[in-house]
Amino acid sequence: MFAPLLMDSQFWITAWNEGRTNFHQGNYHDKLVEYFPQLKPEEGQRVLVPLCGKSKDLLWLHGLNLRVHGIELHNQAVEAFFAENELSPVKKTQDQDFAHYTHENIAISCGDFFKLNENDTYDFIYDRAALVALPSGMRKSYAEVINRSLRKGGKYLLVVYEYDQSKLDGPPFSVDDNEIHELYEDQFAIQLMESKQPTNEGPRLSSLGGLKQKVYILEKIH
Ligand SMILES: C[S@@+](CC[C@H](N)C(=O)[O-])C[C@H]1O[C@@H](n2cnc3c(N)ncnc32)[C@H](O)[C@@H]1O
Repeated sequence: MFAPLLMDSQFWITAWNEGRTNFHQGNYHDKLVEYFPQLKPEEGQRVLVPLCGKSKDLLWLHGLNLRVHGIELHNQAVEAFFAENELSPVKKTQDQDFAHYTHENIAISCGDFFKLNENDTYDFIYDRAALVALPSGMRKSYAEVINRSLRKGGKYLLVVYEYDQSKLDGPPFSVDDNEIHELYEDQFAIQLMESKQPTNEGPRLSSLGGLKQKVYILEKIH
């Protein structure tokens, strides 16, 4: 069990170092494949993938001819993504806050998401296991970075869990509908696309009664 106040960078660095990465999926996320096409992406548009780990979803988005930009704290995850998917050559550059790894139109910036360049904007954001990876005290700041990173008219596909937080310590944390509205309703039109008990979660989550996986599409209107 993890104390939320300790949910800092060191928590995730230790998780990767110790191989505690059960969140990683060997296949593309079914809700990405089902819902992202509804956002009507066009070739060359930019998609941001916060807290991306070594997710194969980056590859799926790249397959849509999008320019994909993942942000991930741990270099082990970033390097594993390119190596395991046999993507080479990988160009590496460094600035003050990030090491940027690039292959064709996939870039992963290794560093702290909260330091993302304020002037960079995207057409889409895809968030799976990112907002819910953060304890409640960090989610407002996370939402602020999301808000400033998406252009007006841009779309944000968000997958979260909702469950009784008293039954389990996160991550993943429960993020309920009220909170989604508190975080985003000032700047986004929010649409709940589905709310269902997920079928293929690991034993830790599956043992929870009343667990729901919820999918939202948010459109930036301000
Ligand atoms: C639960 S995992 C999800 C990874 C990915 N979204 C997926 O679906 O497999 C959360 C990831 O966020 C990364 N992370 C946590 N805090 C971060 C931060 N402040 N900046 C960038 N990455 C961060 C962790 O290293 C970890 O790989």
